[in-house]
Amino acid sequence: MSFIPLAASIDIGTTSTRAILFARDGSEIAKHQIEYTTSASVEKAASSTQKESSPTPVFSAEGVAITAADNLVFEDSKKPSLLFPNPGWVECVPSSILADATQCLGVCMGSLEALNKDAAKPYKVTAIGITNMRETTVVWSKKTGKAYHNGIVWNDTRTSAIVQKKIAETPKDVQEKLRRISGVPISTYFSASKLRWFIDNCDNVKAAYDRADGDLCFGTIDTWLIFQLTKERSHVSDVTNASRTMFMNLDTFNYDKELLDLWDINPKNIVLPKIVSSSEYYGAFKTPNLAAIGHHSDLPKASSTWLDALTDIPICGCLGDQSASLVGQLTLKAGAAKCTYGTGAFLLYNTGPRKLISEHGPVTTLGFWFPELESKEDSQPHYALEGSIAVAGSVVQWLRDNLKMIEKAQDVGPLASQVDNTGGAVFVPAFSGLFAPYWDSEARGTILGLTQYTNACHIARAALEGVCYQTRAILKAMGNDAGANGDFMEDLQSTVSPLSVLAVDGGMSKSDEVMQIQADILGPCVTVKRSPNAECTALGAAIAAGLYKHTVWSSLEDVTSSIVGDGSNNEFKAQLADDKRRAGWTLWEKA
Ligand code: G3P
Repeated sequence: MSFIPLAASIDIGTTSTRAILFARDGSEIAKHQIEYTTSASVEKAASSTQKESSPTPVFSAEGVAITAADNLVFEDSKKPSLLFPNPGWVECVPSSILADATQCLGVCMGSLEALNKDAAKPYKVTAIGITNMRETTVVWSKKTGKAYHNGIVWNDTRTSAIVQKKIAETPKDVQEKLRRISGVPISTYFSASKLRWFIDNCDNVKAAYDRADGDLCFGTIDTWLIFQLTKERSHVSDVTNASRTMFMNLDTFNYDKELLDLWDINPKNIVLPKIVSSSEYYGAFKTPNLAAIGHHSDLPKASSTWLDALTDIPICGCLGDQSASLVGQLTLKAGAAKCTYGTGAFLLYNTGPRKLISEHGPVTTLGFWFPELESKEDSQPHYALEGSIAVAGSVVQWLRDNLKMIEKAQDVGPLASQVDNTGGAVFVPAFSGLFAPYWDSEARGTILGLTQYTNACHIARAALEGVCYQTRAILKAMGNDAGANGDFMEDLQSTVSPLSVLAVDGGMSKSDEVMQIQADILGPCVTVKRSPNAECTALGAAIAAGLYKHTVWSSLEDVTSSIVGDGSNNEFKAQLADDKRRAGWTLWEKA
C-alpha cells in the first residue's frame, strides 16, 4: 500500500464534539474538540468570542508539534448550541452540532495535511465513522434540510407528564409486552416521547405531520449527521441508535406497529430512518452547506479546503456512543462489561448474539452489528444489557458551576479523598429522574444526613459515591437476573464466567480517587480496569468504519491484536472493609 490508512471518527457527546483520526494501532494521529457554548456560558463570557478549545497539537514523526488552526473560530460564536430553556429542559441546536462536527473534522484534516508534507508514505483517511449521544431527537425538512426545532436532548425531562399519562393508561401486561419487544420501558429517556412532544407542541411540526407529504424527517443525531454529510442525503440509523427510540423491534430490527401505535405515530405521516447495521456503506462524504440549513455562520475557509480531501470517502461506521465505547474498550465477547462515565454513566454487559430481557431494571440494547465480518459468530448482531445512570459527570459540573465548590472538574477527586467517608451524608444525584434499575422519572436530587460536621469534602465524596452506588445497583440487578431468570443464568453460565473485571473509561474514570471509590463500593469480586485508550467512544466508531471493506482492520481478532493503547494497566481493587461497604450500601438503598 502506498499510504497509511486511517479511520476518521466524529464523536458527538452531550457537552462537546470531537473528531479523531485513528491509525491501525489505535493511536490518535490528529484530534480536535469543541466544547458546546451553553446559554449560561454565553451570558458569563459576554466579552469572549473564543468557543473552541485550542486545537490539540499533533506531532510529526520527528516529534514536532503541529497545530493546524490556531485562529480558526466561527465568526459568531456567541450563539449557544446547548440550551436550558426551562427547568429540566435540555435542547441542542442541530445546525451547530453539524457545524462543530464538520469544523473538528476539517481541523484534523488540516493537521494531516501538515503531517503528510514531505512524508515518504502519507496518511490517507479511508473510512469515516460516527458516534453520538443517543436518544436525542431531531425533526427536519427533507426538502430544505432545515431542522424544525432545536433537538431535545436525551436527559431532558419535559415529557414527564406525557410519560406518566402513558404509563397510567397502558395496562401493565401491555407495558410488559412492549418492553419485551423494544427492550426498554416507557420513560422520558427514549426518543418516542420526545417525538410525541414535537408533534403535540410545535405548530410547524404538527402541520408537516398532517401534510403527510414525505417531507417531515425524524432521526437521532447519527441520522441527522449522515443525512447532512452524505451526497446521497441518506436517511438511516444504525441498530444501536434505533434501539434507543422505543420504536424498534429487537428481533426484526424494524419499526414495530405496536410500538408506533403506543405513541400514536403513523409512519405514513413522518419519514423514519431506514434501520441499518453498524458497519456498511451509508453514503459518500460531502462538506455540508451550513448557510443553506440556516446556520448563523459558515465554516472557516481553510476548513472547507482541508475537507476537500474527504470528498467521496465513505461514511461507513455508526454506533450510539455507549455501544461505540463497548467496541473501543475491546469488550467484544459475551460476558465482558464496560462502564463509561460521561455526562451520565452507562454500564453495558455484552451478551453476544443472545437477546436477554432483564427482570430487574437494566434495558436490552444493541451492542454492535458488523455483518461483513467473515467469522459467522462475530458477524451476528451483538446484544447488551445496559444500566444507564442519568447523572455522573453532570453532578461534578453541578458542584463546580452551581455550588462553586471546585474550580475544575478534575479537582473533585482530590477534594473528596480528603475524607475517607461522607460523615453520614448520602447524595442521590437524581437531577433528571432515576434511570436503571429504579426507573423513576419523577425522582429529583436529594442530600440526606447533613450535620453541623458536614463539609465540602463530605458533599463531594457523597456526590461521587452516589454515582458509584448506582453502578453497584445495576450490577446487583444483573446478578439478580442470573438468579431469578433460569434462561439468563443458563445462557451466561454456559458461555461466560461471572463478571470479574469492569472495564471503565470516560471523564470521571481518569481520576484514581473516583475509581478507587468505585472499586471499594463494588467489593472484592470485581476489579475496576481503566482502558489504556483514552478515547474509547471515538475509537469504537473508527473500528466500525475501518472494518468496512477491511480498509483499516480485517476482523475482530485483527482489531484486538493491533490496538495497543498507551501501555498503561491501571487496575483498582477494593480496599474498604466489608462491614463498612455493607453499611454504606444499606444507607444508599434507604436514601
Ligand atoms: O444515552 C445517553 C448517552 O448516549 C450520552 O452519553 O457520553 O454524552 O454522557 P454521554
